[in-house]
Amino acid sequence: MTVSKQSTASLLQLINREIWVVTARAGQDRGGLVATWVSVASLDDARPVMLAGIAPNHHTRELIDRSGALALHLVTAQQVEVAFQFALGSGRDRDKLAGVDVCESELGNPIVQQSLAWFDCKVFARQETGDRIFYWADVVESGQFGVGEPLREHEMLSLASDEQKSRLKADRDSDVVLQRPWHLAWRETLSGDLKPG
Ligand SMILES: Cc1cc2nc3c(=O)[nH]c(=O)nc-3n(C[C@H](O)[C@H](O)[C@H](O)COP(=O)(O)O)c2cc1C
Repeated sequence: MTVSKQSTASLLQLINREIWVVTARAGQDRGGLVATWVSVASLDDARPVMLAGIAPNHHTRELIDRSGALALHLVTAQQVEVAFQFALGSGRDRDKLAGVDVCESELGNPIVQQSLAWFDCKVFARQETGDRIFYWADVVESGQFGVGEPLREHEMLSLASDEQKSRLKADRDSDVVLQRPWHLAWRETLSGDLKPG
């Protein structure tokens, strides 16, 4: 048997997560981002629950906290430019939904009409962990606009132009620098049920 040692970062590249477009609206303000930290959090088909991990510094996080709701979308590779529109920069500087066909959900969330599938979600629990805030949310309505396979992270990056790649890397690097101290500070405060042993 050959045992090889590789960096954890390169081994984690074996995982190819779905790309989720997360949108929210609070009053006149609307926005969205791309997230891979989204998961189905219930086995009960009668009570579908989603869990999303959103960084505290993101504009979309403010909107979710103000409205208590979010919409989750899967897109296909044909809508990769929509994904880039949500992945790059901040909704504080521009309307990320400009030029995107949207309708309004029952909960008031913007629903992206180019999406493969969408899930309108109402937050029922929230947990801060320093560099992420986790939201558990009930799916109150869902729908499908297209057919195909959900866009995944590797495909999105392979379809990015050189300029998009360097902007994604710059955004990611600055998020890591900003968020690392928040994560470390949270670990220092752990006690009670959150502390192992
Ligand atoms: C592939 C990919 C995955 C991402 N996953 C997440 C995530 O799970 N949670 C998160 O808060 N941000 C994630 N981001 C970062 C946000 O999409 C990005 O910073 C966004 O521009 C923030 O927008 P906002 O400030 O307008 O909300 C991801 C970005 C990319 C490119």
